[in-house]
Amino acid sequence: MSVSRPAAVIVLAAGEGTRMKSRLPKVLHEICGRSMLGHVLAAAAELGPERTVVVVGHGRDQVTGHLKRVAPEVGTAVQDRQNGTGHAVRMAVEALREEGVALSGTVVLAYGDTPLLRGRTLADLVAAHEAAGNAVTVLSARVPDPAGYGRVVRGPSGDFTGIVEHADATEEERAVDEINSGMYAFDGALLAEVVGRLSTDNAKGEEYITEAVAILRGDGHRVDATPAADWVEIQGVNDRVQLAEARRLLNDRLLTDLMRDGVTIVDPATTWVDAEVAVGRDSVIEPQTQLQGRTRIGEDAHVGPGVLLRDTEVGAGARISHAVAHEAVVGPECSVGPYAYLRPGAALERGAKIGTYVEVKNSTVGEGSKVPHLTYVGDADIGRGVNIGASSVFVNYDGVNKHRSSIGDHARTGSDNMFVAPVRVGDGAYTGAGTVVREDVPPGALAVSAGGQRNIEGWVLRKRPGTPAAEAAERAKGAEEASDR
Ligand code: UD1
Ligand code: CA
Repeated sequence: MSVSRPAAVIVLAAGEGTRMKSRLPKVLHEICGRSMLGHVLAAAAELGPERTVVVVGHGRDQVTGHLKRVAPEVGTAVQDRQNGTGHAVRMAVEALREEGVALSGTVVLAYGDTPLLRGRTLADLVAAHEAAGNAVTVLSARVPDPAGYGRVVRGPSGDFTGIVEHADATEEERAVDEINSGMYAFDGALLAEVVGRLSTDNAKGEEYITEAVAILRGDGHRVDATPAADWVEIQGVNDRVQLAEARRLLNDRLLTDLMRDGVTIVDPATTWVDAEVAVGRDSVIEPQTQLQGRTRIGEDAHVGPGVLLRDTEVGAGARISHAVAHEAVVGPECSVGPYAYLRPGAALERGAKIGTYVEVKNSTVGEGSKVPHLTYVGDADIGRGVNIGASSVFVNYDGVNKHRSSIGDHARTGSDNMFVAPVRVGDGAYTGAGTVVREDVPPGALAVSAGGQRNIEGWVLRKRPGTPAAEAAERAKGAEEASDR
């Protein structure tokens, strides 16, 4: 079906969302890495509308601020008092009129609290609307539990006569399981005219946009309701129980898309992904893994179990288990974890290994280099082919400022080293165990800073007599003397 570019998409986002019991406006609550409003706008953007107007009101500064960040191209219209969905649409129409936009052609209306909506569904709605030449086409759906939704009312021959809100519905109407999704395609000129004629003659005393259907039909225009193929998409979120349900459903959809694209998801029940995550073919995602934000994973990678990645890039063939990474880059064939923490600016080059209880921040770890155990790497540049001994710290903070350190290619640093920044260890240099590296180490040198070891013979027997240690020492001495004889 060919679809025209809608003249405008109007998205309602002025309501408080009382049932969320939240300081945050309802439409800003997040699922799968985007606000609910952000999801609706992403679906709307697929239509390529000439303009998009979001109606803001409750928490307007928060909503407008959010829009500036996530959808700066979108315009806003203000609804000061939340006097109903019809009133909200009227505010959008008036704002457009003030801008000198004459609404003609198709105008799409959606609500900001239906985050499961797909662009394709809106496109189908627009196509059906334009093919039939309707004044308004309502996207409806048959749902298992219609409570709370507006019901689609049909005449004896099945023709669509209007929408009645749950609060205004009779018992008989409440039994209807076809509901109004809150998504509509309107003839723009007729919409602009009808929003001036909505009554407040209903249980809530508000202007309902749903009344437009009966008015336009009364004027002799064609109106229709077309059921969505997948009712899941039109679920509105009014409280936090529905928010969790919507998140689960969207997550399932995203995981299904990944699996269909060739990614193994071992346990969809405990794997969570955000809408903008990408994973390459033949990668395996193990249980208890969360991929957030703009995380990108290449092909043949193995991620999980127990991994949280946010805005992190993972190269092909890398393996990560039991780890947390934020804004990090893990190169191809790298190995990370178990129990590792990569913080912003951590960049591992091909084949690098970050092992157990290792934290890396704002540092590069060169190709094939290893930081296997119990180490903090902060503000450092580690060359290629390096091995960092267990239990080392890049001492990057002098209490006031942070400084960088560097380790040259193929260096071997001993266990329990402190690199007091700024300090440079040259290519191919070694450092002994327990070294506190305060000065640069030239290429190929061995740095040792621990003093020579001094053994004070018999100290335990003299100073700690009668302790298990003294007894053990005495037994060892006896055995030594016996073997000497
Ligand atoms: C609405 C529909 C109902 C439909 C359901 C689908 C009306 C009268 N009812 O009911 O038929 O089945 O959605 O989810 O349209 N809003 C404003 N300004 C207002 C009031 C609401 O911008 O004055 C916005 C809200 O922010 C929200 C959307 O409109 O994003 C829907 O409002 P809500 O109160 O949730 O409507 P429902 O009772 O769910
Ligand atoms: Ca709603």
